[in-house]
Amino acid sequence: MSKKWYKEMSVYQIWTRSFCDSNGDGIGDLPGVYSKLDYIQSLGVDGIWFSPIYPTPNADYGYDISDYKNINPEFGTLDDFKKILDSAHERRMKVFMDLVINHTSDEHEWFKESCKSVDNPYHDYYIWRKGKGKNPPNNWLSAFEGGAWEYNENLDEYYLHVFAKKQPDLNMDNPKVREEVKSIIRFWLDMGVDGFREDVINFISKEPGLPNGFPLPVATGVEHYKYGPHLEEYLDEFRAVQNEYDCFVIGEGPMTSLKDAVKLCSEGPNQKLDMLISFDHMNANCFMTDWIKTPFSLRKLKSTLTKWQNAMKGIGWNCLYIENHDHPRIIERYGSLKYRVESAKSLAAMYLFLCGTPFIYQGQEIGMTNIRMNSVSDYKDVMTFNNYKLFKKLGFSDKRFLDLSFQANRENSRTPVQWNDSENAGFTTGTPWFNVNDNYKEINVEAEDKDPNSILNFYRKAIKFRKTHQVAIYGEYNEYDKKSKKLYVYERVLGDEKMLIICSFAEDGEKFTAPEGYDLNKGELVLSNYELNPVFDNSFITRPYECRVYYFPGKTAESEG
Ligand code: NOJ
Repeated sequence: MSKKWYKEMSVYQIWTRSFCDSNGDGIGDLPGVYSKLDYIQSLGVDGIWFSPIYPTPNADYGYDISDYKNINPEFGTLDDFKKILDSAHERRMKVFMDLVINHTSDEHEWFKESCKSVDNPYHDYYIWRKGKGKNPPNNWLSAFEGGAWEYNENLDEYYLHVFAKKQPDLNMDNPKVREEVKSIIRFWLDMGVDGFREDVINFISKEPGLPNGFPLPVATGVEHYKYGPHLEEYLDEFRAVQNEYDCFVIGEGPMTSLKDAVKLCSEGPNQKLDMLISFDHMNANCFMTDWIKTPFSLRKLKSTLTKWQNAMKGIGWNCLYIENHDHPRIIERYGSLKYRVESAKSLAAMYLFLCGTPFIYQGQEIGMTNIRMNSVSDYKDVMTFNNYKLFKKLGFSDKRFLDLSFQANRENSRTPVQWNDSENAGFTTGTPWFNVNDNYKEINVEAEDKDPNSILNFYRKAIKFRKTHQVAIYGEYNEYDKKSKKLYVYERVLGDEKMLIICSFAEDGEKFTAPEGYDLNKGELVLSNYELNPVFDNSFITRPYECRVYYFPGKTAESEG
């Protein structure tokens, strides 16, 4: 397996609006981030990924960009950003920007021009079509807001938006648009940024002729753009620019098959992405979307992760994550509120030691949880409003919708970070833009920082172990006890160095017996979430959500260490 810096790093994701507010306006900002760089560094991470921080009318909280070469004034200025960049670099941390190029905001200058006339040079920057009689050009539905076409009376044409109305899709088939993208890429790389997380990057090429799609409740037509005919070509074009720099590129790829992911991430001269953000392992308690709940299945989770681990072995590299700004908090999904601390640690151990680059989302490291809202009007997100309409049509009462939302809504992960037990969790001195979770008095950074057994300190230890042990980075992955519905067990092996990771996903005890070749009493227990219970006959009975990470240094590491 080839060694690369991006394989050895762990990354912290910041969704700035809810991270830390420095000026009391209730909105997180860049000086707020700057003030927390010591904290971020204390986690042991090597990079920060900023969800979009560009100017935006906030139709999708930054994923609707109105100027790609500037900073959202609610967050600060380019100088504030440069200060963070320099300070992060001094701390040997990289900085990654979110690159959202499938669509812009409808308030971007290009789109405003594009609406002026069909002859405007910017008209062809977007996907405009004539209707079919009184109907839109095809039956596509957006992911967020009903139909995927919006009619413009002046032009007597419709524009395509596969997300919200205020997010018109760019026409990537237009070479001028691709030149603009390259210029944006250069702008940030020249400033010193270290790479990009590319938003819904697999959507950028649409099937010519825009044929009707298979009818679905949302996103009808997706089969015609989830891996379009020119995707690879366009990614190559962008990559050629990115390759002029020592740049890292991770693509978000909803609905990308494993086969296609391998194609995009295979190492070599044609490599398009360094890794892909897959959604597959996020479906172990739902069907296709977080909003269609199914009982949590550990077997589904394990088999998905193992499939991706095996497919990338020696060929590409995985992105490891269990939370981000698009999903509810993980504890309620795959863990247990009753065993919040234990399950948060077990989940951390489970994913941080897989083969790949781990991403940690703000608040995850202290075990933040979902938020119960009293009213639909407490929510802020376009996706919530759309889902509310859909579930109302299905006969849901507000109460039932709020109950589901508490489980399913991505806004659960967007509540302000809980820094301490003072008012508003120390996030702001003003009125927070979004509700703070009531549990901040007990769940907050300050309290966990002081407690050696906190989730936060578990994350720190785990990240440090990974960083300082090559077996945790490059070791081969093999799964054990595949059929178990309670335990996830795997090893990592590099030469004669080994790790054995045992994570329980159950409240009740399960007997675990070490696989052949392992003597647990000879291993170093480097991480666990309980006081040690002795091991007899190479076995132990797990306690609720118990996890243990054993390390077997092997002769080489022992003599070096
Ligand atoms: C994926 C982003 O992560 C999500 O937050 C956003 O709403 C959509 N892409 C549209 O940009």
